[in-house]
Amino acid sequence: EYNSITAFHKKLAESKRILAVCGAGLSAASGLATFRGAGGHWREHKATDLATPGAFRRDPGLVWLFYAYRRHMALSVKPNAGHHALAALAKKNPDFLCLTQNVDNLHQRSLHPPPQLKPLHGSLFTLTCSSPSCTWSSPNNYASPLCPALAPAASSSSLSQLLDPSHPLDPIDPKSLPHCPDCHSLQRPGVVWFGEPLEEGMLDEIDRWIDAGPVDIVLVIGTSSVVYPAAGYAEACRTKGHTSVVTVNLDADQNRQTLNSLQEEDFAFAGDAAELLPELLKPVIGELPKE
Ligand code: APR
Repeated sequence: EYNSITAFHKKLAESKRILAVCGAGLSAASGLATFRGAGGHWREHKATDLATPGAFRRDPGLVWLFYAYRRHMALSVKPNAGHHALAALAKKNPDFLCLTQNVDNLHQRSLHPPPQLKPLHGSLFTLTCSSPSCTWSSPNNYASPLCPALAPAASSSSLSQLLDPSHPLDPIDPKSLPHCPDCHSLQRPGVVWFGEPLEEGMLDEIDRWIDAGPVDIVLVIGTSSVVYPAAGYAEACRTKGHTSVVTVNLDADQNRQTLNSLQEEDFAFAGDAAELLPELLKPVIGELPKE
């Protein structure tokens, strides 16, 4: 019963307040690497070398190459039917809120209504100043490469090729990286690094939304649910016997892990989010226009 689309459609028909928590698996069908699955970023490289404030202080050039590469890859792909299905649901149901861990801007490019999208981990396409006392930021910066020193990131076909230890790139002189126009510190990608806080105001807004009333459905899409606070929202919404937690994940085992205790009102669908979401949401969003 927990993987019956018909049973889910019945629940959807009587649902109003819906939350989605999205992860890298939603963008996999667009061609972007995940973090912990096969070929994932953290399978080939250590997060602590590429995605922490310490890494940036130690070697800003290396960290910038990683993010310039991810910017370039995200710009070279398109939102998939999973993104479009979620944007269509948001347009049909103002009580649907989408939280995403992804920084690739593919939700935004699928024209998901901004008030119903919370980018928990920021965006590759927002630049900020690395000085904690400076508030400079520049949203929607799509330049690639950002500067000549980062050009290799825009011409590498893979991260492992770009950061290949047997063919190390010339070290990048931090002076050649982008600097803040206000205080001349280094610019950094506007993403949340391990050990950094998420935006306070956004977290409060999400808590207020959850507290505003029972949540009928929580869609947990394409995420390994190991990074908090994103991984905690499904359980936070669970109102005994009312809330259906619905995992959509390529890996059936992952579904069971996410739903550590699969309850009778829950659902777990194993497959590609880009294929499953249009199917699962069809009663509300109808047929998506063909790409
Ligand atoms: N459809 C659905 N699920 C998929 C697909 C797909 N096509 N491809 C992969 N998956 C699943 C994998 O089975 C895995 O459970 O997506 C999940 C991806 O997990 P991670 O790579 O851990 O990505 P995510 O959960 O988004 O990571 C969370 O960790 O590194 C930090 O800040 C980073 O936002 C990221 C956070």
